[in-house]
Amino acid sequence: MGIQGELAVAATDTAEPTRRDFLYIATGSVAAVGAAATAWPLIDQMNPDASVRALASIEVDISSLTEGASITIKWRGNPVFIRYRTPAEIEEARAVKLDDLVDGLARNSNVDASAPATDENRVRNENYLVMLGVCTHLGCVPLGEAGEFNGWYCPCHASHYDTSGRIRKGPAPENLPVPEYTFVTDTTLKIG
Ligand code: FES
Repeated sequence: MGIQGELAVAATDTAEPTRRDFLYIATGSVAAVGAAATAWPLIDQMNPDASVRALASIEVDISSLTEGASITIKWRGNPVFIRYRTPAEIEEARAVKLDDLVDGLARNSNVDASAPATDENRVRNENYLVMLGVCTHLGCVPLGEAGEFNGWYCPCHASHYDTSGRIRKGPAPENLPVPEYTFVTDTTLKIG
């Protein structure tokens, strides 16, 4: 087990593209603590010991994540998006031709660096998309369930990512990177 009881996890409902109704889930236990706007300040107030431990790998309980919902966790100082995709989102992601992609590489730490950006190469389990929530243009945090490709939209300079987190339109040069992770159990992810 990585950090227990220290990291907050934010969950949002698919019905809204904005981040509201967040549920904070501490790894290994559950605690509802507030709204989205307080997520990062809350974590930023962790004591130094916890901040240091945040550099290590973490385990995330995704058992409460339902189809069509997403959670955001903070790992190594960056947000990580975990989305339980709908069948339509998976289908949409897999129907895209590689020639239509801006960035042809999977950008997935779990596969070869030269692997093409097929949706299959972006996920370990097609239901779950796990990736850093940091726009590859200048580092803003993209909004989920938004943009012209029904994936993520970065409002800073209008970059659109698809349901596989691949850049499709706008100034961002690369797909959202997938961190190293494994499934410890069917509903527990170890990131890092
Ligand atoms: S930082 Fe995302 S589009 Fe510029």
